[in-house]
Amino acid sequence: MTINPNKALWEKGDFTRIAESMRESGEALVMTLGITDGLEVLDLGCGDGTTALPAARLGADVLGVDIASNLVEAGNARAQSLGLTNCRFQEGDASDLSELEDDSFDLVVSIFGAMFAPRPFDVAKEVVRVTRPGGRIVMGNWIPNDPTLVAQILKISSSYSPPPPEGFVSPMTWGVEDNVIERFAGAGVSEEKISFERDTYTFNFPGAPSELLAVFRTYYGPTMNAFEAAAANGREADLQAELDALFNGQNASLSEDATSIPATFLRVTVAV
Ligand SMILES: C[S@@+](CC[C@H](N)C(=O)[O-])C[C@H]1O[C@@H](n2cnc3c(N)ncnc32)[C@H](O)[C@@H]1O
Repeated sequence: MTINPNKALWEKGDFTRIAESMRESGEALVMTLGITDGLEVLDLGCGDGTTALPAARLGADVLGVDIASNLVEAGNARAQSLGLTNCRFQEGDASDLSELEDDSFDLVVSIFGAMFAPRPFDVAKEVVRVTRPGGRIVMGNWIPNDPTLVAQILKISSSYSPPPPEGFVSPMTWGVEDNVIERFAGAGVSEEKISFERDTYTFNFPGAPSELLAVFRTYYGPTMNAFEAAAANGREADLQAELDALFNGQNASLSEDATSIPATFLRVTVAV
C-alpha cells in the first residue's frame, strides 16, 4: 500500500493534545459564525472537533471531515460523550471530497485544516462545489513569515528539515490573499465575493511555555518530524533552544506556570 504523507503527518502523534490548548478560541470563533438551528455545516480538516462541537451545540447539523483516522475517532467519541447526535465525523480528503454531493452545505468551515491538504486549486474547487449557492465558506489560515507562534514554529522547523519534494506547495501560501483569490477564481468565484480579516487564536495551557513546547515535540506531527530531521544532523539541541526561546518570548501570561500565546491568522470568508 502506498503511504499518503499528508495523512501520515497528521496521524503521527496526537493532535488532540495540541487542540486542548485551542478550545477557547475555537468556541469564540464559532460564536461569530452566525450559526442557526438546523444550519448544515461541513467542518473540513476538523481535527477532533474544536470548532465542529461548539457549532453543533449551537444547533447546526455538523459533518466533520478529516484525513486522520485517529482524529475522526476522537471527534466521534467527544460528540458521543457530549450527547451531540447532530455532529458526526468521517474520514475524507479536502483535495477530493467525491463522497460528498454538490450543494450540500450552508457553511463550510476550515480552521487551519484544508490549508494543509495538497493541491490547493482542487481544495478550492471542492469546497465551492459542496457549498450551496447563497452559502458561505470560512477558512482560518496561518500567515507565512508572520511573527507569531505557529508561523514561526513552521518557519524554524523548515530550516532544520530537508527541502520538500519538487512540486510541493507550502500550506502557508493559503495565508497570502493573492493566492486565495487565484484559487477561488479557479473555482469560479470572483474576487468581490471574498473578504479577508486578521484574527487571533490564543493557545492556553496550564503549565510553563517550555512544557507546552514539550507537548508539541511529543504530539504535533510537524514538530515531531522537525526534531527527527534535526536529530539526523545532530542539531536537536539547537532546534529545542530556538523553539524554547520562541514559546517563552511569545507568552503573554503574567503567571510563570501558565501559558497564553496569541497567534495571528488570516480569516477568509467567501460568499458562494
Ligand atoms: C492544525 S490541525 C487543525 C484541526 C482543527 N481544525 C482544529 O482547529 O483543531 C490540521 C487538521 O487538518 C487535517 N488535514 C490535513 N490534511 C488534510 C486533508 N488533505 N484533508 C482533510 N483534513 C486534512 C489534519 O488531520 C488535522 O486534523
